[in-house]
Formats: sequence, C-alpha cells, structure tokens
Amino acid sequence: MISLTRRHFVLGTSSLALLALAQRANPASSLGARAEAHIEALIAKMTLQEKAGQLSIFSDMTRLVPKTQINPEAGPPVDTNLAQRVREGRLIGVFNGLGAAGARAIQKIAVEESRLKIPLIFGADVLHGLYTIFPIPLGEAASFDPQLAERTARAAAIESTANGLHWTFAPMVDIGRDQRWGRVAEGSGEDPYLGTALAVARVRGFQGKNLTDEDSMLACPKHFVAYGAASGGMDYNSVEMSEQTLHEVYLAPFKAAFEAGALSTMSSFNDVNGVPMSANRKLMTELLREEWRFRGMVVSDYTADKELIAHGVANDDREATKLAILAGVDISMQSDLYNLYLPELVKSGDLAMAVVDESVRRVLRTKYVLGLFDNPYRSLNPKVEKRNTMTPQLRAIARESARASIVLMKNEGELLPLRKSGQKIALIGPFGPDTLNLAGPWAPFANFNHVVSVEQGLRAALTDPSLLTVTQGSLIEKPLEGGIDAAVAAASAADVVVLAIGEGQNMSGEGNSRTRIDVPAPQQQLAEAVAKVGKPIVVLLRNGRALALEGAVREAQAIVTTWFLGTETGSAIADVLFGDYSPSGRLPVSFPQDSGQQPYFYNRRTTGRPQGDQGPAYKARYREVSNEALYSFGHGLTYSRFDYEPPIVSTDSLGWNEVLTVTAKITNIGEREAEEVAQLYIRDRTASLTRPIRELKGFRKVRIAPGTSAEVQFTLTRTDLAFYNAAMKFVAEPGEFDVWISPSATTGVSTRFELKGA
Ligand code: NOJ
Repeated sequence: MISLTRRHFVLGTSSLALLALAQRANPASSLGARAEAHIEALIAKMTLQEKAGQLSIFSDMTRLVPKTQINPEAGPPVDTNLAQRVREGRLIGVFNGLGAAGARAIQKIAVEESRLKIPLIFGADVLHGLYTIFPIPLGEAASFDPQLAERTARAAAIESTANGLHWTFAPMVDIGRDQRWGRVAEGSGEDPYLGTALAVARVRGFQGKNLTDEDSMLACPKHFVAYGAASGGMDYNSVEMSEQTLHEVYLAPFKAAFEAGALSTMSSFNDVNGVPMSANRKLMTELLREEWRFRGMVVSDYTADKELIAHGVANDDREATKLAILAGVDISMQSDLYNLYLPELVKSGDLAMAVVDESVRRVLRTKYVLGLFDNPYRSLNPKVEKRNTMTPQLRAIARESARASIVLMKNEGELLPLRKSGQKIALIGPFGPDTLNLAGPWAPFANFNHVVSVEQGLRAALTDPSLLTVTQGSLIEKPLEGGIDAAVAAASAADVVVLAIGEGQNMSGEGNSRTRIDVPAPQQQLAEAVAKVGKPIVVLLRNGRALALEGAVREAQAIVTTWFLGTETGSAIADVLFGDYSPSGRLPVSFPQDSGQQPYFYNRRTTGRPQGDQGPAYKARYREVSNEALYSFGHGLTYSRFDYEPPIVSTDSLGWNEVLTVTAKITNIGEREAEEVAQLYIRDRTASLTRPIRELKGFRKVRIAPGTSAEVQFTLTRTDLAFYNAAMKFVAEPGEFDVWISPSATTGVSTRFELKGA
C-alpha cells in the first residue's frame, strides 16, 4: 500500500520546507562582511561608465552559436571587438557563446587587463539541454515527474558549465493557455500547479546544491510576467488580465521559483494592462522586490528596454533607459542603452546615483554568490569540457526523459505495442528519416550529428529490420512530388503504418505563432491517402503545442504525441512503440476539437450557461463542435488499465484549521505493470467570484503491478482552497467543495466536503 501526501511536491507548506526554501532563497543576504565590503569598495571606485558596463550584456559575436545572431533586426549590431569592450569594463558578461577555452581567454582579459578586474559572467539559453538535448519543456511536463525535470536540468547544467557557462536563461515558467502561441513549447503547459512544481524542480536542478559549485548554474525563471497570455496567442502581443488571474496563474510559478532560490529573472516583451513589463515598476519593484524580497538581478529580454519606444511609452532611447532602470530592470540585454545613457542621466540629475548603485550591487553580489570573485575561472576548464560533453550518462537521461514524455492518447483495439518481428511496418511521413527537427525550439546548440531518428530507433529495435520500409510521402509544409503514390504503395505492402507527421522545429518557438494549430495541409493529405489503403495506422505526432486533429489523423487507431524529444528521439519512440516501456506521459495541455476554440484550457471559470446534458442550444459552446476537449489535460493511456474507486475524505466537514485527507484506491486491472498518474482536483462550488470548473491540487505517479492496488493519499488545508477575492485578499471561503482523484481533468467521480468557517 502506498501512502503519499502531496506535501512532497508542494511548495513550502510545511514549516521545515519553508525554512529550507527561505535559506536557499536569499543566498545573497548571507554573503558575509568581506564580500559586502569588497562590493562597496568596488562601487566607490567605479566610474559611471564602469557601472553602466556592469549593467549591460551582449550576445558574444566572437563565439556565437549558431554563427548568426538569432534576431539581427532587433538590436544594433554589437561590435566584434569584444576584447576592447572587456578591457574597458563595458559589460557584465556575454551570452550564447560556447567553449571553455574561449571563455577563459576572455575572462583573462577581464581579470588581468580591465581596471577593476571584475570577472565576467557567461550566460546562454539552455532550456532543455546544451549539446545533449532533452525533450522540450512542454514534453517533459507530460512526464508529470518533477524529480525527472530536476535531473535533466542538473544534467544540462553539468554539460553547460563544462562548456564555459555560468548562467542559463531558464527555466521558462510562462503558463501557456493558448496553443497558437509559439512559445508554449518552452514552458510546462496550461496548469499553474504543474507549472509551479516543474519550475521549482528545474531551478533546483540548474542551481544544484550550492551556486559556487563549478557545475552549478544560475537559473533565470522567465519571462516576468504574463508573456504567455499574449492576446490572440500572437507572440509579443499585449496582455489584458485581471489581477486575480495574474497572481493565481501567471505569477505563481515565479514566486515558487524565487522561493526555491532562483537569483535572476528576465523582464518580458509584453505589456500587462498597458504597462510594458520593462517599465513596470509595480510588478518588478513593488511586488518582486518589496513584497517578495527577491534579492537577485533582473535582466531585460533582448532589447526589451529599447522596445519601450515602439510600445509608445518612451519618446526616445534616453527616456526608455530611465523608465527601465527605475522600474527595476538591472541589466540591459543587447540594446546597449544603459552604456549609452545611464551616465548622462545621472550627471544631469535626472536619475539618482543610488538607483544605479543598487543595480550594480545586485550584479556584483550575484557574481559573488557564483564564486566568480574567488575563482574567475570556475567552469572554464577545457579538460572538464571534454569529460562532460555528450557523455553516455547524459544520453541515458535523454532517453529516459524522452520516453517518459511520450503520451499515448488513443489505442483502439490495443494496436500498440507493435511486434518486433513477424509484422511488416511502413514508416511514412516527413519525420521518419528526419534528423533536423528532433530538438525543437530553443535548442540552438544541439549536436545534430549524434541524434537518433525515428527510422534509426525503430530499425535498431526490430528483430528483423528488413520488415521496416521508410517513405517520406511529403515535406513538412510542402507536398513532395510522387510522395503520396509512394506512401500508398508502401502502406499497401505493409501490415501496419506508422505515420510520423506534425510540426517542424521552426513552427513553434519564439516568433512562430500559428492561427491554425493543425497538421500542415500536405501532411494531412498524405494521411487521408494512406488511410484509404485501410491498414491500421499509428499516428506519431511531432509537435510543439497541442494540435487540433482532423480527418484521418483524428480517426487513426492509435495516436501518440511525441513533442520534440531531443537527442534520443528514435530510441525512446521505439521503446514505447514496441512495448519495452509502457507509456506514462499525461497531457500538460488540452487537445481541443478545433483551432477556433483557443485559448482553451481545462481550468476555465464557470459560466452561467455551461454545456451539460440538456442539449446544445443556448449553451457555452460553438456551433460546430462540443466544448469538451478531444483529449483533456491529464489524459494519457498506458499498456494496462486502471480502475479508480471514488475518493474518500477523512471528514465531510473540514474545520478551519484542520487537514483533510483524500484517499483513493487504484487497481491495475490490465495485464502488465504500468505507471499511473493520480491527479487531485477540487472545485469550489459557490464562492464570491466565479472559480475554475476544476483545479489541479496534487498529482502522483505510481507504479502498480497487474492485479494489485495502490492507495493514493493527498492532504488539503484551507490554504489549498484559497483564491484572490475581489479585494485581492488570498482567502478560503467557507462552503462546499468537490474533490476528485482521477486519471485526467475531465474524468472520475467526485466526493463533496464542506469547509467550515473560523
Ligand atoms: C529572446 C527570448 O525571448 C529570450 O527567451 C531569450 O532568453 C533571449 N532572447 C536571449 O537569447
């Protein structure tokens, strides 16, 4: 019998956990007198230009990977004479350059040739691996396994620090409720509870036990804040949002990430209710620093300070600089505005020196926390680089996390698992042989020479590889001449079709929002033609977001979502398709019926006209489709089957200060051992504001042998039932609640209890 409380995951609810978190939260507050004195002495010595330099970061044009600037139009071209800039102390450090030897050479200039010898910090966008690529964060979220996310973040930090990096611009903790938004791929999906658990896990993984350790990396939860709520799902678009939703949904993962010790964050591109984040003093200073006591540093997103002009809240560069620093942006990324305008702003009396000094202090403290003053060459050792890059251990975690991220959405007639022999398999679709679309967005450093394609993975697993045929059929977004005919011929000659279709790597990620979240038309045509052959089809989706599935794709006997799985894509897919691993992933985003339902998420507020049993007329739904998800948040099948008994509550009348225990018995009624993700949901039945139709409050992955049962137990207190009321007070309101322990957000049987007043 398993008895598991959700406090294992949660977020500082026990006093011990709180204490530990608080200690990790503010390492900068315990720097010690020597360090503080050194920092103050440095600030006293620094010229205004040197101060502005410590507040300016640039992409490393000398060692940039990939070789071209990612968004050259956004910023002024930065000089390639990095050495001179370093000598003059005109930067805090650089980002997105790789290599221990190169970084060491630049660091040597900083600590030997610059006037104040302040070490540089080296940053990069390591979202889901450096050279060894783990699944995109959205995919990994499907594992519902924070420990696994912590381990992949740790592994990424080990490989990254070996390659000369100290700071990652990750984790990306934006909640993604609109699948049109291209960057849902980088986050943890639509749910704040799951997103928060993973944010905390990844911060811990990146930062390790102690930030001074050579393999620890400073984390930067981003993008602060509400970037994921871009109107219409269009990247960079403006955000209008209630204070309640901002706090309950979008700020929650940040708060927990900072409590877990993250010492930097990034101001996002968007505005919130009219105030661009890089000028948002209320959120970046009053909330973040004064209320939450965040002691780390805030870096702007790439030229986001300069973009205050395009937003129309600043007239020119000078004003943009002033707005950004006063709002709480410590470091200007790429625009060079701080170097250009901070000194003059102070000299003219328009900006207090104390404001600049405070930002410099935060930067120098963070460099201290990373141990850079004591050892500027930390993490810059070519021998370690060789030892810790693309190692078998990294690849093993890549495979483990990749297979845990796969979600089996449909498996009619138990078509899966496939047999390794005696069955002719036609692998059809652009992603069968593909090796260039495995990594997914924000994996600019991926080593594509050592990836496993779907074809390679399946071949390696088959007893008789000659039973596999591979036919491209179509390009990703264009038809392939003769492709459909070849695919139909291959399907006709096979016993089963594996249709590897979906989105290319550049269809999601930054700047890649979509109006229709479908399988691209040429691939849909391929699917329709292949389906007519009449062979059983396994659809193997590659995707950076939830998709709206149609026609032959939707009707296929089996549907497997594989996201972008990274280096070990093919091996992990083979593990699942041939049954060496029973799928254990669950959807972190709802798959809608149709693109037009976006934004679509399970935990939406109740309406006055909910779609129910009484017919579709005058209900909250569209004319064309039901408002049920096609595959809901939390959904995912295994190669076994599970039966849930209704949850039992320890009391149906919960006292104000009491703890409620919710228990359910889950029985494996299938043939093989598998992992089930038990999910705890609540619904506040009557409250002073409309509340979500369901809210995730806990989850647990349990491995259960066939014919046996596990008892899963969660606890709830009134804090778990609380929300922001109209007066923005975080309160629980007495009254009735429904509670579920269920396999997804839309299934299961609920039990009722009442929260009594104080
Ligand atoms: C812009 C992206 O929005 C952000 O996520 C990234 O960290 C920076 N560029 C730096 O590359």
